[in-house]
Amino acid sequence: MSQNETIRVGIIGAGNIAGHHITGYLQAAEHAQVTAIADVDAERARHHTERLDDPDIFLDYRDMVASPDVDAVDICLPHHLHKDAIVAAAAAGKHILCEKPLCLTLEEAAAVTGAVATAGVTLMCAHNQLYLPAVGAARQMIREGRLGKVYAARTTDVFSLQLNEETLGWRARRATSGGGELIDTGYHPNYLLLHLVDDTPVRVTALLSRHRPTFMEGEDTAHVLIEFAGGAIGSIVTGWAYEPASCTERFSVVGEQGSLWSDGRRLYYKPRGGEEVTVQDAVAQAPDTYALEVVDFIDCLRQGRRPLNTEVEGVNVLKVILGAYASAERGTVVELKNL
Ligand SMILES: NC(=O)c1ccc[n+]([C@@H]2O[C@H](COP(=O)([O-])OP(=O)(O)OC[C@H]3O[C@@H](n4cnc5c(N)ncnc54)[C@H](O)[C@@H]3O)[C@@H](O)[C@H]2O)c1
Repeated sequence: MSQNETIRVGIIGAGNIAGHHITGYLQAAEHAQVTAIADVDAERARHHTERLDDPDIFLDYRDMVASPDVDAVDICLPHHLHKDAIVAAAAAGKHILCEKPLCLTLEEAAAVTGAVATAGVTLMCAHNQLYLPAVGAARQMIREGRLGKVYAARTTDVFSLQLNEETLGWRARRATSGGGELIDTGYHPNYLLLHLVDDTPVRVTALLSRHRPTFMEGEDTAHVLIEFAGGAIGSIVTGWAYEPASCTERFSVVGEQGSLWSDGRRLYYKPRGGEEVTVQDAVAQAPDTYALEVVDFIDCLRQGRRPLNTEVEGVNVLKVILGAYASAERGTVVELKNL
């Protein structure tokens, strides 16, 4: 793809998150344009057209991916539809930005990985929280060795969601969501933990709860422990059931030389035995991580650069989550190599 060409993007699934992605494409307008939207519900697709320059509307995304007027697709579908859309887009030679989770099973992961490799297209996982400035700064400090050997890391993503059948929709059913909260919002603290620890997860154990909604088939809260190859232990708390206690960090990492923690906006560092310092203070307006992610996707395509998280990281996160589900069901610690 030449650096001067406008990248023509087709959005697949015109619901809630698609609107956030469109804000990103508008910010990348010098190099990208949303030229098509596909949704089984034409009204939903049309809802977004006001902000765009007359995109083509498709009821079947397969017709859209066959179009020579689309260079890349942005998959914003319910979870059970991700794999088929990725495989179809890759087979048509389109680059792909895919919302989390990448897909739902190891069989689907093999199909996705094979399709992307065969086509030689770029797939970026929409892991938007990696674009929090505090996350980028923390990862750099860890890579520079400011913490020394990493011993432990913790990520949390907990909030009180309005939980009823209407607001949850397809998210309430395992067949369409792939599980419960852990494979939905819980994807974020999982990829964040793997990104910060930057090592191979080997063993997982988990406990799941359903504190509030009786109509939901899966969990609304998950506690996950992960052991990494180098010995670090990660822990994740994620849920939709309650507001977390006010002292709960978004992430923290502890190593032999010191520790860092963040509430998602500020970043603090404390060398072992030293005073805590503020590495990064909060800016007045929270960063729009969806827009930052979309702008980076377009830049990756223009520069031929590897995205921060491709299908490789997407599958690694999926394995941890499937390991956590298997652990909760069996009541055992699960070796990821035996999944
Ligand atoms: N990164 C985040 O923080 C974040 C936040 C919300 C949602 N998401 C992810 O975005 C994705 C979509 O979630 P959402 O909240 O936008 O869902 P949504 O229900 O609001 O939108 C899904 C859209 O897909 C359409 N659709 C369903 N079947 C289709 C098909 N076969 N072909 C074409 N369109 C079809 C629906 O009509 C709907 O418009 C999910 O993967 C979700 O996990 C991510």
